[in-house]
Amino acid sequence: MATWRPPERIKYAPLQAPWPDAREAAQSRLFTPIKVGALTLASRTWVPAMVPWRASEEGEVTPDVLAWYERFARGRPGALVVEATGVRDVPSGPLLRIGHDRFLPGLWELTERVRCASQGETKLFIQIIDFLNVRRRPTREKFLQRHLLITDRHREFLRLADMPEDAVRAALAQLDDDQLQQALTARDWESLQKGFRERVTDVEVPAVRDLPKTLPGSFAAAAGRAKRAGFDGVELHYAHAYTMASFLSALNTRGDGYGGAREQRVRLPLEVYAAVRAAVGADYTVGCRLLSEDCIDNGSSVEDAEYFSCRFASAGMDFISLSRGGKFEDAMQPKVGEAVYPYTGRSGYECMPSYYSDAKGPFGRNLEPATRIRRALRAAGLQTPTVLAGGIHHFRQAEEALLHGQADIVGLARQALADPDWFAKVKNGQGAQVRLCLYTNYCEALDQRHRQVTCELWDRLNLDEPGVMLSSDGKRRLIPP
Ligand SMILES: Cc1cc2nc3c(=O)[nH]c(=O)nc-3n(C[C@H](O)[C@H](O)[C@H](O)COP(=O)(O)O)c2cc1C
Ligand code: SF4
Repeated sequence: MATWRPPERIKYAPLQAPWPDAREAAQSRLFTPIKVGALTLASRTWVPAMVPWRASEEGEVTPDVLAWYERFARGRPGALVVEATGVRDVPSGPLLRIGHDRFLPGLWELTERVRCASQGETKLFIQIIDFLNVRRRPTREKFLQRHLLITDRHREFLRLADMPEDAVRAALAQLDDDQLQQALTARDWESLQKGFRERVTDVEVPAVRDLPKTLPGSFAAAAGRAKRAGFDGVELHYAHAYTMASFLSALNTRGDGYGGAREQRVRLPLEVYAAVRAAVGADYTVGCRLLSEDCIDNGSSVEDAEYFSCRFASAGMDFISLSRGGKFEDAMQPKVGEAVYPYTGRSGYECMPSYYSDAKGPFGRNLEPATRIRRALRAAGLQTPTVLAGGIHHFRQAEEALLHGQADIVGLARQALADPDWFAKVKNGQGAQVRLCLYTNYCEALDQRHRQVTCELWDRLNLDEPGVMLSSDGKRRLIPP
């Protein structure tokens, strides 16, 4: 699948700046503790959620999942967030799930492994998510024969009143693309081009209409399980292309009191949070990840995010983690047989910018909106810590963001994947030895193809090392050396 890139194609390399020695690091803001709800993080460093495609087909923790998070914990970030984990008990391929008590033993083992590996230093969160149905892009024939619901609109367009459905389908199949686009609704044309995608505005579908009734309970039960499994806290996934972010989005026009104005769009996310809080109690750390901007036409703006963040913080959330973009609306057309991937359009670029960029560059694209959001929180008298992510790989970027009041905690996703020892190395004055992320998005391309995620900087190194765990194609190591 193609991926959108800024047309300027200016090439960027990681920052070349001096690294701190151990003394400077010890005195830095980055390596001072911070309170997040009832917890204290030993440093203001954070590894945001990343799906590595290592769960079993049934959504369970596997030895590969354990080894993956154990490896991150050995680098001792302040906080580590386990990948987006589904709150519903429905099959969703090799993505982690927490929608039933049968997932508890695996998750419990995961929290134990992380605790041992970091000697309790790294606090472990789990990101909990709900997502709607997305189908693969069909062939034209299959779509017209099976998926399309034949209505009077098609009969009128074809002037085939009273004709049986089969004849209408056959006639549609004869049309060229321009004619077919006119015959179909915009929504059906999109389903043909990109595959059918359910939306929060599909209120004629009972399960979608009832999301405000079902989701608070699903999230609350999942959060209760996270607490029982030994996680230090829960991150509600209110970002990117998924259900909760779609409720928050300005594109949500539901007319049932859960869409339209900001006050209504934030209602379900607040109700989900209230149910989660009731399930886990006041002294358990709960926050959310949301978008500082949707980065799509007519999507939510930074003003929306300022408002949402203040509402979440006043309701009692313990942290606000900020991402940006990553939406389905502007995603590229997938190949036939593949599903649309929300990080392929311009908004996807904003979420995971790569080294080919525009004048703004790939580093710190979320800085300005995140600063505004933090300022809005403080202006409202709210001290809730914010987490910033996007292109951060050097100590100087992280430290400056903290010193300038742009964030309270700094997230490194791909940089932690490139070198999970970043945190320990920088703290010990060995920053020059960090394996710096090049922002090639090789890892993201693997995610897109639902293949085990690895980093090109280390996945071919020392393949013959004893006990090295290999990917299913046998060509790549699964864990950094
Ligand atoms: C392979 C991969 C998987 C990701 N999975 C998730 C996820 O499960 N949940 C989430 O909120 N963000 C996810 N992200 C986005 C990252 O958390 C992060 O926001 C993004 O990569 C930008 O930060 P970075 O520049 O430090 O990498 C993923 C990113 C990558 C590269
Ligand atoms: S593959 Fe490695 S170097 Fe490339 S973007 Fe991902 S983490 Fe960075």
